[in-house]
Amino acid sequence: MALPDRILTNAELATMVDTSDDWIRQRTGIEQRHIADESETTSVLGTAAARRALASAGIGASDVDLIICATSTPDHTFPATATEIQHALDIHHGVAFDVQAVCSGFVFALATADKFLTSGSHKVALVIGAETFSRLLDWNDRGTCVLFGDGAGAVVLAAEQGTGTIADRGVLHSHIRSEGRYRDKLYVDGGAGSNGKVGHLRMEGREVFKHAVINLADTVEATLAATGLTGADIDWFVPHQANKRIIDATAHKLGVPGSRVVYTVQDHGNTSAASIPLALATAVGDGRIQRGQLVLVEAMGGGFTWGSALIRW
Ligand code: UT7
Repeated sequence: MALPDRILTNAELATMVDTSDDWIRQRTGIEQRHIADESETTSVLGTAAARRALASAGIGASDVDLIICATSTPDHTFPATATEIQHALDIHHGVAFDVQAVCSGFVFALATADKFLTSGSHKVALVIGAETFSRLLDWNDRGTCVLFGDGAGAVVLAAEQGTGTIADRGVLHSHIRSEGRYRDKLYVDGGAGSNGKVGHLRMEGREVFKHAVINLADTVEATLAATGLTGADIDWFVPHQANKRIIDATAHKLGVPGSRVVYTVQDHGNTSAASIPLALATAVGDGRIQRGQLVLVEAMGGGFTWGSALIRW
């Protein structure tokens, strides 16, 4: 994972907009977030996370033939941030592209990479979630600017012959969905194809909250049903980190106790597509997630988009 050095606390935010540490903690669970400086672009953070993931996997950049970067905050409208990362890693073969599904981006990228690997077309994938959401925020809108942060996380997936059962390591099942009817509940009011501006993030928080609780439970149930497992079988639940209350409600529905939920929302805020790989890296780094364990990830974001994946680590 890679996080900017600069930390913005709730107390500091309370000097910028009409909010309080108490309100932010109680409504979201967030205590602080990291904010990128000018030099820390999405590709810079994504490349740093990618290098660490490769080192941790013991795999050289030259073995990677697929790079998928999930982001809604690319360095430039084009080229894809994944190609910027491919260049930074000095990789001259294979393919690199971005996936844009906002906060669900990492789950969509993971599902996409898994399908490339299981089809046999590619062998080693770098899947990255990288964001600089601070650049999209309206710092006068207390309803959104207190929620988001910057960062990047990455994982390496490598194809190997399995048995086709849930004893195999890797992505056992993934389930992704979208429903464009709700595109105006969480969106950015600018874009290259409309007004030519970058724009600011706009959200109807209460509406998103309501749909998140329903959609996340649905997708997680679909993934569990496809594998014949239940919440009781899950070693670690690693949800998108938007709001502690949404995480708690989903874990409760799943029957997963808080001791098996990975929370990073307090330290990172909502880092959109980066939040799940940041949480994975945190829990692998401190020894909680161990090889062979079952890890369930889920996310919901603008579009709406949502999805989940069950992984044997
Ligand atoms: O990652 C993509 C998915 N995104 C999410 O999952 C976010 C989902 N939504 C949420 O997490 C929550 O809806 C929020 C944290 C955004 C808001 O919490 P809420 O409990 O839904 O609050 P609310 O929007 O209903 O606002 C309650 C009150 C309002 O005041 P009144 O109208 O009751 O007087 C707001 O004006 O809280 C006020 N408020 C604030 N007060 C202090 C809104 N933002 C703030 C703030 N500080 N930052």
